[in-house]
Amino acid sequence: MDQFSITTPDDWHLHVRDGDALADVLPFTARQFNRAIIMPNLTPPVTTTEQALAYRQRIVEALGPDTRFQPLMTLYLTDNTPPDEIILAKSSGHIHGVKLYPAGATTNSESGVTNITHCHDTLAVMEREGMPLLIHGEVTHDHIDIFDREAVFIEEILNPLIECFPTLKVVFEHITTKDAADFVHAAPDHVAATITAHHLLLNRNDLLVGGVRPHNFCLPVLKRETHRLALMDAATSGSAKFFLGTDSAPHSRSSKEQACGCAGCFTAPLAIELYAQAFDSVGKLHQLEGFASHFGPDFYGLPRNTGTLHLQRRPWHVPPSYAYLDEEIIPFLAGTQLDWSVVSE
Ligand code: DOR
Ligand code: ZN
Repeated sequence: MDQFSITTPDDWHLHVRDGDALADVLPFTARQFNRAIIMPNLTPPVTTTEQALAYRQRIVEALGPDTRFQPLMTLYLTDNTPPDEIILAKSSGHIHGVKLYPAGATTNSESGVTNITHCHDTLAVMEREGMPLLIHGEVTHDHIDIFDREAVFIEEILNPLIECFPTLKVVFEHITTKDAADFVHAAPDHVAATITAHHLLLNRNDLLVGGVRPHNFCLPVLKRETHRLALMDAATSGSAKFFLGTDSAPHSRSSKEQACGCAGCFTAPLAIELYAQAFDSVGKLHQLEGFASHFGPDFYGLPRNTGTLHLQRRPWHVPPSYAYLDEEIIPFLAGTQLDWSVVSE
């Protein structure tokens, strides 16, 4: 297959930051995707409906008038999110999920949840209202090895949570392990997962062999090859529980290339091409449309897109950098060759 078309896809997990960064990064996503779930880990975090609607407005203004792209907003769950905030969020029509960051798990997660039991009343309202809980699934205890944090989260937090709230819609975000893929396969249909392109394409050798590669550092951290293969199986299985979420996370070059570099891969400029590369590598391009364009809206209860995106087997080189704020940003796989190109109509 040298060219194919899919229904216009959506990105169900995206970081676009705020302020001047918006205009630098949003056009990349709007070029390929019709909608994206916008992560709320700003400083300060987006914890209220009022803040989320104001953030949405800034995104819409940065996009300009000629776009069909729609930002789907989220709230940042804290120990103190009042149950009434969920009602408000739901009635706004613009808030599609509430993000659980365990405190200290990743970028700007300091205001996250310290103990999930503090959130039980709020989670009960989310369950009743059909508001999805989007989970960064890693424990943060010092004594748990960073490569085990997702698997331990499943045992310690996720299993009890799902038992306690048996109809709560859950998206286990950016899964990185066979443990997580198996968990989601076995769970009821209202428990789903997003998978990033970088976790489909790389394993932890790509982070560490031959030298530390800061632009491949993300959280949850890349895992060993057996886990990558399990993610590939899940993403290409045709199961509606697994759908596209890039977790594209812009950080300037200087904040990545330093003694304590930030976590995040900037995949937005080449997102669908990366997924095409991954699916093609196992002969499963025919499963890309479900994963990228159908299963996400079906899970969120939104209509599927009506447009079409065309892809062609035509090699191109990922640019070495893009302008970002007053410096530059290095895209994922900068300088390497990709096989698939988006055909602009
Ligand atoms: O790699 C990551 N970057 N993982 C996250 O969970 C957060 C994100 C960011 O905001 O930079
Ligand atoms: Zn993220």
